Amino acid sequence: MSGRNRLAELRDAAPVILPSLLMCDFGNLEREVRALEEAGVSALHLDVMDGCFVPNFTYGLPIVEALRRLTTLPLDVHLMISRPERYIEAFVRAGADLMTFHAEAVEDPEPILRRIAELGVAAGVALNPATPLEQVDACWDLCDLVLVMSVPAGFGGQSFDPGALDRLRYLRKTLRHDALLEVDGGINETTIGRCAAAGADLLVAGSAIFRHADYGPVVRKLTGLAVSQ
Ligand code: DX5
Ligand code: ZN
Repeated sequence: MSGRNRLAELRDAAPVILPSLLMCDFGNLEREVRALEEAGVSALHLDVMDGCFVPNFTYGLPIVEALRRLTTLPLDVHLMISRPERYIEAFVRAGADLMTFHAEAVEDPEPILRRIAELGVAAGVALNPATPLEQVDACWDLCDLVLVMSVPAGFGGQSFDPGALDRLRYLRKTLRHDALLEVDGGINETTIGRCAAAGADLLVAGSAIFRHADYGPVVRKLTGLAVSQ
């Protein structure tokens, strides 16, 4: 199934929780994936960091490929890398269904969004809290999704920046009606409701999920808080 179809499934199910696997147990990846599937998550959010665009270094193609073999859940690849255009094809081959890259990492997002879409994958830009939205004004119609960062990209466990809420509200009005809005960073039981109310469809949560031994109750709690908005 194409990434575009996976996006449509997520649109129908929204608002949904996407676990960020940054803090999972990589020594037991299969067990982690099964636990997340049983907890009822709708997709996996994969944070690819290169130690250059952001100071942190995480993982790349082999882990995305491994996850592709382990699950049929949609894979949402968040590229926090310099010059992401070099790796679009490789991450599509590795199994990405949704792909976002940072507006701050490229000169012109337009050809990259077009390339990702041509490859059948849902395409979007990610924006750090300090980046003016106008920087991407020419490209909103090319975005299948937009990732609003509510912390500066780079690390899990940071505090939610409430400035994301105005950005979500603005983008909800500005984007194509079928585009999805994603928010990432500091999403927890206190912040998730406000993000959903501001228009977020895809709510990424890392530490709020992985600090618990049992993922089911927290995923259900977060989902309930998002849905009730
Ligand atoms: C930060 C990453 C996030 C992060 C979320 O650069 O993009 O996906 O892991 O973690 P929490 O939910 O702990 O802020
Ligand atoms: Zn992320």
